Amino acid sequence: MSGRLRIALTKGRLQNKSVELFEAMGLDCAPVCSPGRRLIHELPNYPLDVVLAKAPDVITYVEHGVCDLGVVGKDTILEKGGAFYEVLDLGFGRCRFALAVKKDSSFYGTYKTRRVASKYPNVTRAFFEGKGMDVDIIKIEGSVELAPILNLADGIVDIVETGATLKENGLEPIEDVAQVSARLIVNTASMKLYKNEITDFLSRMERELEGEA
Ligand code: PRP
Repeated sequence: MSGRLRIALTKGRLQNKSVELFEAMGLDCAPVCSPGRRLIHELPNYPLDVVLAKAPDVITYVEHGVCDLGVVGKDTILEKGGAFYEVLDLGFGRCRFALAVKKDSSFYGTYKTRRVASKYPNVTRAFFEGKGMDVDIIKIEGSVELAPILNLADGIVDIVETGATLKENGLEPIEDVAQVSARLIVNTASMKLYKNEITDFLSRMERELEGEA
């Protein structure tokens, strides 16, 4: 390493909030705000290079050590798992995993095996295993709310933020599965090899987060 750390940021919803936090820490994020076609952005006033990536790729890059740090949602961490340190709850990107069903329908109270659709099969499996309940899990790639409407599933496990998507589709949450927010993750070897650099970055971040609390 040339004295610079590399961080992977999750593109999309978490990206703007991450950049806001970095700016508040005194990091000039101008290159990230107007990225053009470049994929790696060197911050001009702090030894940090920024890579923008899809959430599961953030974990892959950090696990393999090609990025020392990452910002990713707890939803992706719970679904994908992996070997890294999860060091800080960044407080933004707050939402929850919930079990939802068609309004006024029942999910429990039958011996029939329930069918649950989700983009997060591992989270769903762990939740129902924790209850000792056998369910059939159907993996859906997008708009999982359709599954109960089309009678493909008895319920869904999905991210709920405002609850508007469920409501507009005649569904209602009946149980919380897990709380979600953005987390800072660190590669295990980087934590030892670049202890001073990472400590400096983490203390700036913690100071900022505490200041906001
Ligand atoms: C998520 C989730 C719901 C929606 C919930 O999808 O799958 O559809 O947000 O938000 P709400 O409670 O505020 O209505 P997202 O928009 O992230 O798109 P995705 O399908 O690409 O995951």
